[in-house]
Amino acid sequence: MTDKMHAKDEPSAQPRDAVSRRAFLKGVIASGAAVSAAAYLFRAPEGLAGMAPDAVGERLITLNVNGRLRRVDVMRQETLAWTLRYKLGLTGTKLGCDRGECGACTVLIDDVPHYSCSTLTHTVRGRKVVTIEGLAAIDGTLHPLQQAIVDEQGFQCAFCMSGFVMSTLGFLKTHPNPTREQLAHGVSGNLCRCQDYDKILTTMMRGAENLRRVGRG
Ligand code: FES
Ligand code: FES
Repeated sequence: MTDKMHAKDEPSAQPRDAVSRRAFLKGVIASGAAVSAAAYLFRAPEGLAGMAPDAVGERLITLNVNGRLRRVDVMRQETLAWTLRYKLGLTGTKLGCDRGECGACTVLIDDVPHYSCSTLTHTVRGRKVVTIEGLAAIDGTLHPLQQAIVDEQGFQCAFCMSGFVMSTLGFLKTHPNPTREQLAHGVSGNLCRCQDYDKILTTMMRGAENLRRVGRG
């Protein structure tokens, strides 16, 4: 095939690549998807792996997650992060340290940010849980905070992204017009292994501006 023919066959290869990359990024941001590996995905909580349901007291409960009632069997000592990721398939909530140090697992419970790795699932019965998957509209329109990430290209690997978004959203519910310093303090419970804090703050400040513009929290 000549160069000319090739050019004719694929007249818009560059723009199409750009569009598909943008669509891919939007999908990643909406779902909170990021790094995955088999060992990470199938990691069991210490002491629970391999135990029979009866041995760990599994019980059927109803949770309100992202506005939907979900029936799920949970173990007495099961964490919300575990239930969300491995029982409900909401893998946008990340597990980093699994010990309340990094904030990657942050979700909103009754509009307040919580580390889901340090929250027992049965304690959130009757409360409203919101994860990163609950932010975009049904038609796929990104939440103003998520749109800010697209606009600012705000994260490197994005493993910490959903935690930062949920922490920021919770903080903005009580501080809708923060200074950069106030927002930095508000999300100080979240760590970024890529050390991309300056860009993350710029992104979240833009997200706060987006939220004010559309009057949402
Ligand atoms: S995974 Fe929950 S704080 Fe790190
Ligand atoms: S962007 Fe990589 S951990 Fe934050």
